Amino acid sequence: MPNQVFEAARTIMAVREYQDKEVPEDAIRRIVGAAHLTASAANRQPWHFVLVRKRDALRKLGSLVRTGPYTANAAAAVIVAYEKGSKSGVSDASRAIQSMMLVAWGDGVGSNWTGLTGLENVRQEFGLPDTYDVLAVIPFGYPKRKVIGKKKRNPFDQVVSAERFGSPLG
Ligand SMILES: Cc1cc2nc3c(=O)[nH]c(=O)nc-3n(C[C@H](O)[C@H](O)[C@H](O)COP(=O)(O)O)c2cc1C
Repeated sequence: MPNQVFEAARTIMAVREYQDKEVPEDAIRRIVGAAHLTASAANRQPWHFVLVRKRDALRKLGSLVRTGPYTANAAAAVIVAYEKGSKSGVSDASRAIQSMMLVAWGDGVGSNWTGLTGLENVRQEFGLPDTYDVLAVIPFGYPKRKVIGKKKRNPFDQVVSAERFGSPLG
């Protein structure tokens, strides 16, 4: 029986062009629900997720995130923030991002990670308290074109070892 979780990991690609089509409420709820349910270090949950769906606000996000202007055309976006000073905040929030992206993909919804630093403008514009840093903005939408899951990755044995660094798994 195919492993659907691995299939999602195998086929998911960064999607930067979206159809002009709404993502149904239940799928959106699954996406933010996955973020909410994600595990975090010591279960501290040092994060906040702002779901953005209004077109004006999506356009604003597209203008604020230099590396993600296409967010303007997404059906929705999630601003991912973590508590300033939290040692595990980046790791915890990154894991939540992966949860959201995989769950979206399971519903046929594409997404991508945009931004990494320099998102103070997003924090201010969307009313997050200054006790948070914004890690990323994740746009979501149905892919405009069919996504072929052909990944460009370094060779498996270059990045995976068995038992000891440099010993191939085969
Ligand atoms: C931490 C992280 C930050 C990223 N930042 C951006 C970004 O700012 N803008 C963008 O268009 N893509 C961004 N990406 C997407 C990557 O460029 C993309 O996933 C990578 O090139 C591999 O392509 P694939 O996901 O289609 O296999 C980011 C991905 C990660 C994991």
